[in-house]
Amino acid sequence: MAKIWDGLWLNANLATMAGAEPYGAIADGALAVRGGRIAWIGRRADLPGRPQELAARLHDAEGGWITPGLVDCHTHLVHAGDRAREFELRLQGASYEEIARAGGGILSTVAATRRAGEEELLAESRPRLAALMAEGASTVEIKSGYGLAQDAEMKCLRVARRLGAELGVGVRTTFLGAHALPPEFAGRSADYIRLVCAEMIPAVAKAGLADAVDAFCEGIGFSPAEVDEVFRAARQAGLPVKLHAEQLSDLGGAELAARHGALSADHLEYLSEAGVQALAKAGSVAVLLPGAFYFLRETRLPPVALLRAHGVPMALATDCNPGSSPTTSPLLMLNMACTLFRLTPEEALAGLTRNGARALGLAGEIGTLEAGKRADLAVWRIRAPAELAYRFGANPLSALVIGGEVRHAA
Ligand code: NIG
Ligand code: FE
Repeated sequence: MAKIWDGLWLNANLATMAGAEPYGAIADGALAVRGGRIAWIGRRADLPGRPQELAARLHDAEGGWITPGLVDCHTHLVHAGDRAREFELRLQGASYEEIARAGGGILSTVAATRRAGEEELLAESRPRLAALMAEGASTVEIKSGYGLAQDAEMKCLRVARRLGAELGVGVRTTFLGAHALPPEFAGRSADYIRLVCAEMIPAVAKAGLADAVDAFCEGIGFSPAEVDEVFRAARQAGLPVKLHAEQLSDLGGAELAARHGALSADHLEYLSEAGVQALAKAGSVAVLLPGAFYFLRETRLPPVALLRAHGVPMALATDCNPGSSPTTSPLLMLNMACTLFRLTPEEALAGLTRNGARALGLAGEIGTLEAGKRADLAVWRIRAPAELAYRFGANPLSALVIGGEVRHAA
Protein backbone atom coordinates (compact mmCIF):
# COMPACT_ATOMS: atom_id res chain seq x y z
CA MET A 1 0.00 0.00 0.00
CA ALA A 2 1.34 3.49 -0.83
CA LYS A 3 2.51 5.42 2.20
CA ILE A 4 0.95 8.85 2.57
CA TRP A 5 3.88 10.41 4.49
CA ASP A 6 7.65 10.54 3.98
CA GLY A 7 8.43 10.41 7.68
CA LEU A 8 6.71 10.10 11.04
CA TRP A 9 8.15 11.10 14.42
CA LEU A 10 6.91 9.03 17.34
CA ASN A 11 7.65 8.54 21.01
CA ALA A 12 7.72 12.31 21.38
CA ASN A 13 6.15 15.09 23.38
CA LEU A 14 5.52 18.14 21.24
CA ALA A 15 6.02 21.77 22.26
CA THR A 16 4.15 23.23 19.30
CA MET A 17 4.37 26.82 20.62
CA ALA A 18 0.86 27.31 19.18
CA GLY A 19 -2.53 27.08 20.88
CA ALA A 20 -3.72 27.76 24.40
CA GLU A 21 -1.84 25.09 26.42
CA PRO A 22 1.49 26.07 28.00
CA TYR A 23 4.13 25.57 25.25
CA GLY A 24 1.24 24.38 23.05
CA ALA A 25 2.17 21.00 24.49
CA ILE A 26 0.93 17.67 23.16
CA ALA A 27 1.98 14.71 25.34
CA ASP A 28 2.74 11.46 23.50
CA GLY A 29 2.34 13.14 20.14
CA ALA A 30 3.11 12.28 16.56
CA LEU A 31 4.37 14.49 13.76
CA ALA A 32 4.32 13.57 10.09
CA VAL A 33 6.39 15.09 7.30
CA ARG A 34 5.63 15.19 3.58
CA GLY A 35 7.49 17.18 0.94
CA GLY A 36 9.51 19.02 3.59
CA ARG A 37 6.41 20.27 5.41
CA ILE A 38 4.49 19.20 8.48
CA ALA A 39 1.69 17.07 7.06
CA TRP A 40 -0.01 15.99 10.27
CA ILE A 41 0.46 16.73 13.98
CA GLY A 42 -1.51 15.55 16.98
CA ARG A 43 -1.82 12.88 19.62
CA ARG A 44 -0.35 9.54 18.68
CA ALA A 45 -3.65 7.95 19.72
CA ASP A 46 -5.40 9.98 16.98
CA LEU A 47 -3.18 8.80 14.11
CA PRO A 48 -5.38 7.77 11.17
CA GLY A 49 -3.81 4.29 10.96
CA ARG A 50 -0.85 2.13 11.92
CA PRO A 51 2.45 4.08 11.78
CA GLN A 52 4.30 1.62 9.54
CA GLU A 53 1.46 1.76 7.03
CA LEU A 54 1.31 5.55 7.06
CA ALA A 55 4.95 6.60 6.61
CA ALA A 56 7.97 5.49 4.61
CA ARG A 57 10.30 6.21 7.56
CA LEU A 58 9.64 6.08 11.30
CA HIS A 59 11.75 8.23 13.67
CA ASP A 60 12.00 7.60 17.39
CA ALA A 61 12.32 10.70 19.61
CA GLU A 62 13.10 8.42 22.57
CA GLY A 63 10.52 9.97 24.83
CA GLY A 64 12.04 13.45 24.53
CA TRP A 65 10.52 16.71 23.28
CA ILE A 66 10.23 18.17 19.82
CA THR A 67 10.14 21.96 19.52
CA PRO A 68 10.12 24.13 16.41
CA GLY A 69 13.65 24.56 15.07
CA LEU A 70 15.16 27.60 16.79
CA VAL A 71 15.10 30.92 14.94
CA ASP A 72 18.06 33.18 15.70
CA CYS A 73 16.71 36.44 14.29
CA HIS A 74 19.72 38.72 14.96
CA THR A 75 23.35 37.83 14.25
CA HIS A 76 26.48 39.40 12.77
CA LEU A 77 28.18 36.04 12.33
CA VAL A 78 29.90 36.83 9.04
CA HIS A 79 33.06 38.69 10.04
CA ALA A 80 36.79 38.18 10.25
CA GLY A 81 39.04 38.34 13.29
CA ASP A 82 38.15 38.74 16.93
CA ARG A 83 38.19 41.42 19.62
CA ALA A 84 39.70 39.51 22.53
CA ARG A 85 42.17 42.36 23.07
CA GLU A 86 39.28 44.80 23.52
CA PHE A 87 37.78 42.45 26.05
CA GLU A 88 40.98 42.78 28.04
CA LEU A 89 40.88 46.58 27.72
CA ARG A 90 37.29 46.67 28.90
CA LEU A 91 38.22 44.55 31.89
CA GLN A 92 40.86 47.17 32.70
CA GLY A 93 38.18 49.86 32.71
CA ALA A 94 37.76 51.12 29.12
CA SER A 95 34.14 51.31 28.01
CA TYR A 96 32.65 49.90 24.77
CA GLU A 97 31.88 53.44 23.64
CA GLU A 98 35.38 54.77 24.46
CA ILE A 99 36.96 51.97 22.44
CA ALA A 100 34.63 52.71 19.53
CA ARG A 101 35.32 56.45 19.62
CA ALA A 102 39.08 55.74 19.62
CA GLY A 103 38.69 53.93 16.28
CA GLY A 104 38.49 50.38 17.67
CA GLY A 105 35.27 48.48 18.20
CA ILE A 106 33.21 47.85 15.07
CA LEU A 107 35.89 49.55 12.92
CA SER A 108 38.57 47.08 13.93
CA THR A 109 36.33 44.24 12.71
CA VAL A 110 35.66 46.27 9.54
CA ALA A 111 39.40 46.40 8.82
CA ALA A 112 39.78 42.64 9.29
CA THR A 113 36.65 41.85 7.26
CA ARG A 114 37.66 44.11 4.38
CA ARG A 115 41.06 42.37 4.22
CA ALA A 116 39.58 38.87 4.13
CA GLY A 117 38.89 37.25 0.76
CA GLU A 118 35.47 35.72 0.17
CA GLU A 119 36.67 32.13 0.70
CA GLU A 120 38.54 33.10 3.85
CA LEU A 121 35.47 34.85 5.23
CA LEU A 122 33.38 31.81 4.41
CA ALA A 123 35.84 29.54 6.24
CA GLU A 124 35.96 31.84 9.28
CA SER A 125 32.19 32.17 9.52
CA ARG A 126 31.14 28.57 8.79
CA PRO A 127 31.94 27.17 12.27
CA ARG A 128 29.79 29.85 13.89
CA LEU A 129 26.75 28.93 11.83
CA ALA A 130 27.45 25.23 12.41
CA ALA A 131 27.63 25.90 16.17
CA LEU A 132 24.21 27.58 16.13
CA MET A 133 22.80 24.57 14.29
CA ALA A 134 24.40 22.20 16.81
CA GLU A 135 22.14 23.85 19.41
CA GLY A 136 18.99 23.58 17.34
CA ALA A 137 18.93 26.64 15.06
CA SER A 138 17.18 25.96 11.77
CA THR A 139 16.84 29.60 10.64
CA VAL A 140 19.45 32.29 11.22
CA GLU A 141 19.47 35.95 10.27
CA ILE A 142 22.88 37.28 9.23
CA LYS A 143 23.69 40.98 8.88
CA SER A 144 26.37 42.71 6.87
CA GLY A 145 27.80 45.83 8.50
CA TYR A 146 31.50 45.02 8.70
CA GLY A 147 32.21 45.98 5.09
CA LEU A 148 30.84 49.55 5.02
CA ALA A 149 31.64 49.85 1.32
CA GLN A 150 29.57 48.44 -1.49
CA ASP A 151 31.89 45.61 -2.55
CA ALA A 152 32.77 44.57 0.98
CA GLU A 153 29.14 44.65 2.09
CA MET A 154 28.10 42.56 -0.90
CA LYS A 155 30.91 40.12 -0.20
CA CYS A 156 29.56 39.57 3.33
CA LEU A 157 25.98 39.10 2.12
CA ARG A 158 27.11 36.62 -0.55
CA VAL A 159 29.03 34.67 2.09
CA ALA A 160 25.91 34.57 4.26
CA ARG A 161 23.78 33.23 1.41
CA ARG A 162 26.45 30.69 0.42
CA LEU A 163 26.72 29.43 4.01
CA GLY A 164 22.98 28.84 4.18
CA ALA A 165 23.01 26.82 0.96
CA GLU A 166 26.10 24.88 1.99
CA LEU A 167 24.88 23.89 5.45
CA GLY A 168 21.25 23.43 4.47
CA VAL A 169 19.99 25.93 7.04
CA GLY A 170 17.54 28.79 6.54
CA VAL A 171 19.45 32.07 6.24
CA ARG A 172 17.87 35.53 6.00
CA THR A 173 20.25 38.33 5.14
CA THR A 174 20.07 41.92 6.35
CA PHE A 175 21.96 44.87 4.91
CA LEU A 176 23.47 46.91 7.77
CA GLY A 177 25.51 49.46 5.84
CA ALA A 178 24.60 52.09 8.46
CA HIS A 179 26.38 50.23 11.27
CA ALA A 180 29.29 52.63 11.78
CA LEU A 181 30.94 55.49 9.93
CA PRO A 182 33.81 54.05 7.86
CA PRO A 183 37.20 55.75 8.48
CA GLU A 184 37.39 57.25 4.98
CA PHE A 185 34.18 59.18 5.75
CA ALA A 186 35.32 60.49 9.16
CA GLY A 187 33.52 63.80 9.82
CA ARG A 188 31.30 63.25 6.74
CA SER A 189 28.42 61.26 8.08
CA ALA A 190 25.90 62.88 5.74
CA ASP A 191 27.99 61.91 2.70
CA TYR A 192 28.18 58.29 3.84
CA ILE A 193 24.43 58.09 4.45
CA ARG A 194 23.87 59.55 1.00
CA LEU A 195 26.03 56.76 -0.45
CA VAL A 196 24.18 54.10 1.56
CA CYS A 197 20.82 55.39 0.31
CA ALA A 198 21.59 56.33 -3.28
CA GLU A 199 23.97 53.53 -4.22
CA MET A 200 24.39 50.71 -1.74
CA ILE A 201 20.74 49.92 -0.94
CA PRO A 202 19.62 49.97 -4.59
CA ALA A 203 22.60 47.79 -5.60
CA VAL A 204 22.07 45.26 -2.83
CA ALA A 205 18.34 45.11 -3.59
CA LYS A 206 18.96 44.70 -7.31
CA ALA A 207 21.37 41.84 -6.67
CA GLY A 208 18.75 40.19 -4.45
CA LEU A 209 21.31 39.92 -1.65
CA ALA A 210 19.25 41.28 1.25
CA ASP A 211 15.90 40.40 2.79
CA ALA A 212 15.81 43.49 5.04
CA VAL A 213 17.68 46.67 6.03
CA ASP A 214 18.95 47.49 9.52
CA ALA A 215 20.81 50.45 11.06
CA PHE A 216 22.53 51.32 14.36
CA CYS A 217 20.74 54.29 15.93
CA GLU A 218 23.07 55.48 18.67
CA GLY A 219 25.56 58.21 19.64
CA ILE A 220 28.35 56.00 18.26
CA GLY A 221 26.16 54.99 15.31
CA PHE A 222 23.72 57.17 13.35
CA SER A 223 21.15 59.79 14.36
CA PRO A 224 17.40 59.23 14.04
CA ALA A 225 17.32 61.68 11.09
CA GLU A 226 20.01 59.67 9.29
CA VAL A 227 18.26 56.38 10.04
CA ASP A 228 15.04 57.89 8.71
CA GLU A 229 16.77 58.48 5.35
CA VAL A 230 18.10 54.92 5.30
CA PHE A 231 14.64 53.54 6.01
CA ARG A 232 13.08 55.62 3.23
CA ALA A 233 15.61 54.25 0.77
CA ALA A 234 14.97 50.71 2.01
CA ARG A 235 11.26 51.01 1.55
CA GLN A 236 11.74 52.53 -1.87
CA ALA A 237 13.77 49.43 -2.74
CA GLY A 238 10.95 47.25 -1.43
CA LEU A 239 12.84 46.00 1.65
CA PRO A 240 11.44 45.80 5.19
CA VAL A 241 13.37 47.47 8.00
CA LYS A 242 14.51 46.76 11.55
CA LEU A 243 16.68 48.76 13.94
CA HIS A 244 19.40 48.51 16.60
CA ALA A 245 17.68 50.88 19.00
CA GLU A 246 17.99 52.10 22.58
CA GLN A 247 21.00 49.88 23.36
CA LEU A 248 23.15 52.47 25.15
CA SER A 249 20.81 55.49 25.29
CA ASP A 250 17.27 56.54 24.37
CA LEU A 251 17.22 58.34 21.02
CA GLY A 252 13.63 57.43 20.23
CA GLY A 253 14.79 54.79 17.76
CA ALA A 254 11.97 52.39 18.48
CA GLU A 255 9.37 55.06 17.68
CA LEU A 256 11.16 55.82 14.45
CA ALA A 257 11.26 52.12 13.58
CA ALA A 258 7.57 51.78 14.41
CA ARG A 259 6.71 54.74 12.16
CA HIS A 260 8.31 52.78 9.32
CA GLY A 261 6.37 49.63 10.19
CA ALA A 262 9.60 47.86 11.19
CA LEU A 263 9.71 44.10 11.57
CA SER A 264 11.53 44.62 14.86
CA ALA A 265 13.45 46.93 17.15
CA ASP A 266 16.40 45.24 18.81
CA HIS A 267 18.35 45.62 22.12
CA LEU A 268 15.98 48.15 23.80
CA GLU A 269 17.53 48.45 27.27
CA TYR A 270 16.75 52.20 27.26
CA LEU A 271 13.30 51.87 25.66
CA SER A 272 10.70 54.32 27.05
CA GLU A 273 7.01 53.61 27.60
CA ALA A 274 6.21 55.77 24.57
CA GLY A 275 8.55 53.52 22.59
CA VAL A 276 6.79 50.41 23.90
CA GLN A 277 3.42 51.86 22.88
CA ALA A 278 4.70 52.70 19.42
CA LEU A 279 5.97 49.13 18.91
CA ALA A 280 2.65 47.74 20.12
CA LYS A 281 0.70 49.91 17.70
CA ALA A 282 2.94 49.04 14.75
CA GLY A 283 2.95 45.32 15.52
CA SER A 284 6.76 45.34 15.59
CA VAL A 285 8.64 42.68 17.56
CA ALA A 286 10.94 43.62 20.46
CA VAL A 287 14.14 41.59 20.03
CA LEU A 288 15.99 41.11 23.33
CA LEU A 289 19.71 40.36 23.28
CA PRO A 290 20.86 39.16 26.70
CA GLY A 291 24.31 38.17 25.40
CA ALA A 292 25.20 41.80 24.64
CA PHE A 293 23.68 42.99 27.92
CA TYR A 294 25.78 40.45 29.82
CA PHE A 295 29.04 40.88 27.92
CA LEU A 296 28.99 44.70 28.09
CA ARG A 297 28.09 44.42 31.77
CA GLU A 298 25.05 46.62 31.26
CA THR A 299 22.90 47.34 34.28
CA ARG A 300 19.83 48.90 32.71
CA LEU A 301 17.25 46.20 31.99
CA PRO A 302 14.92 46.24 28.97
CA PRO A 303 11.35 47.10 30.10
CA VAL A 304 10.02 43.53 29.95
CA ALA A 305 7.01 44.17 32.19
CA LEU A 306 5.90 47.07 29.96
CA LEU A 307 6.42 45.05 26.80
CA ARG A 308 4.25 42.32 28.30
CA ALA A 309 1.61 44.76 29.50
CA HIS A 310 1.32 46.30 26.04
CA GLY A 311 1.32 42.94 24.28
CA VAL A 312 4.52 43.51 22.29
CA PRO A 313 5.85 40.12 21.10
CA MET A 314 9.33 39.49 22.48
CA ALA A 315 11.94 37.62 20.46
CA LEU A 316 15.35 36.50 21.63
CA ALA A 317 18.59 36.19 19.68
CA THR A 318 22.31 35.60 20.12
CA ASP A 319 23.48 38.85 18.44
CA CYS A 320 26.54 36.70 17.60
CA ASN A 321 29.26 39.30 16.91
CA PRO A 322 32.90 39.80 17.91
CA GLY A 323 32.40 42.98 19.97
CA SER A 324 29.35 42.86 22.18
CA SER A 325 28.19 39.23 22.09
CA PRO A 326 30.79 36.67 21.00
CA THR A 327 28.52 33.70 21.54
CA THR A 328 27.13 30.97 19.32
CA SER A 329 24.78 29.54 21.94
CA PRO A 330 21.04 30.06 21.54
CA LEU A 331 20.50 27.79 24.55
CA LEU A 332 22.57 30.07 26.76
CA MET A 333 20.35 32.96 25.59
CA LEU A 334 17.30 31.07 26.87
CA ASN A 335 18.90 30.82 30.29
CA MET A 336 20.11 34.43 30.33
CA ALA A 337 16.73 35.76 29.20
CA CYS A 338 15.25 34.15 32.31
CA THR A 339 18.01 34.84 34.84
CA LEU A 340 18.88 38.37 33.68
CA PHE A 341 15.65 39.66 32.11
CA ARG A 342 13.15 37.59 34.13
CA LEU A 343 11.36 36.11 31.14
CA THR A 344 9.57 32.86 31.87
CA PRO A 345 11.13 29.78 30.23
CA GLU A 346 8.07 29.63 27.99
CA GLU A 347 8.44 33.29 26.93
CA ALA A 348 12.12 32.66 26.28
CA LEU A 349 11.39 29.65 24.06
CA ALA A 350 8.66 31.59 22.24
CA GLY A 351 11.32 34.27 21.69
CA LEU A 352 13.58 31.81 19.90
CA THR A 353 10.77 30.20 17.91
CA ARG A 354 7.41 31.85 17.21
CA ASN A 355 8.44 35.45 17.83
CA GLY A 356 11.87 35.04 16.22
CA ALA A 357 10.02 33.92 13.08
CA ARG A 358 7.75 36.94 13.30
CA ALA A 359 10.76 39.26 13.63
CA LEU A 360 11.92 37.93 10.26
CA GLY A 361 8.51 38.24 8.63
CA LEU A 362 8.30 34.44 8.47
CA ALA A 363 5.48 33.77 10.92
CA GLY A 364 3.42 31.96 8.29
CA GLU A 365 6.26 29.62 7.39
CA ILE A 366 8.24 28.63 10.52
CA GLY A 367 8.36 29.16 14.30
CA THR A 368 5.59 26.81 15.44
CA LEU A 369 4.74 23.16 14.86
CA GLU A 370 1.58 23.34 12.77
CA ALA A 371 0.39 21.45 9.72
CA GLY A 372 1.48 23.23 6.55
CA LYS A 373 4.56 24.87 8.04
CA ARG A 374 8.09 23.90 7.05
CA ALA A 375 9.21 20.76 8.87
CA ASP A 376 11.93 22.48 10.92
CA LEU A 377 12.21 20.54 14.17
CA ALA A 378 14.59 20.36 17.10
CA VAL A 379 14.47 17.08 18.99
CA TRP A 380 15.71 17.23 22.59
CA ARG A 381 16.63 14.76 25.32
CA ILE A 382 14.68 16.54 28.06
CA ARG A 383 11.83 15.73 30.41
CA ALA A 384 10.12 19.13 30.21
CA PRO A 385 10.54 22.14 27.88
CA ALA A 386 11.57 24.43 30.77
CA GLU A 387 14.77 22.37 30.98
CA LEU A 388 16.02 24.12 27.85
CA ALA A 389 16.22 27.40 29.75
CA TYR A 390 17.06 25.89 33.12
CA ARG A 391 20.42 24.31 32.29
CA PHE A 392 23.32 26.37 31.04
CA GLY A 393 26.37 25.01 29.29
CA ALA A 394 24.53 21.78 28.44
CA ASN A 395 23.28 20.75 25.03
CA PRO A 396 20.50 18.15 25.00
CA LEU A 397 19.85 18.35 21.22
CA SER A 398 19.43 14.89 19.75
CA ALA A 399 18.47 15.86 16.20
CA LEU A 400 17.89 18.91 14.03
CA VAL A 401 15.50 18.54 11.11
CA ILE A 402 15.29 21.24 8.45
CA GLY A 403 12.69 21.04 5.70
CA GLY A 404 12.09 17.45 6.73
CA GLU A 405 15.78 16.44 6.39
CA VAL A 406 17.87 15.43 9.40
CA ARG A 407 20.77 17.95 9.29
CA HIS A 408 22.41 17.23 12.58
CA ALA A 409 22.20 14.25 14.88
CA ALA A 410 23.97 13.99 18.23
O1 NIG B 1 24.38 44.38 18.08
N1 NIG B 1 25.29 47.58 18.43
C1 NIG B 1 25.80 47.45 17.34
N2 NIG B 1 26.15 46.31 16.74
C2 NIG B 1 26.48 45.11 17.43
C3 NIG B 1 27.86 45.13 17.95
C4 NIG B 1 28.85 45.15 16.87
C5 NIG B 1 30.25 45.11 17.34
O2 NIG B 1 30.61 45.56 18.44
O3 NIG B 1 31.04 44.61 16.51
C6 NIG B 1 25.46 44.76 18.48
O4 NIG B 1 25.70 44.85 19.70
FE1 FE C 1 23.44 43.48 16.74
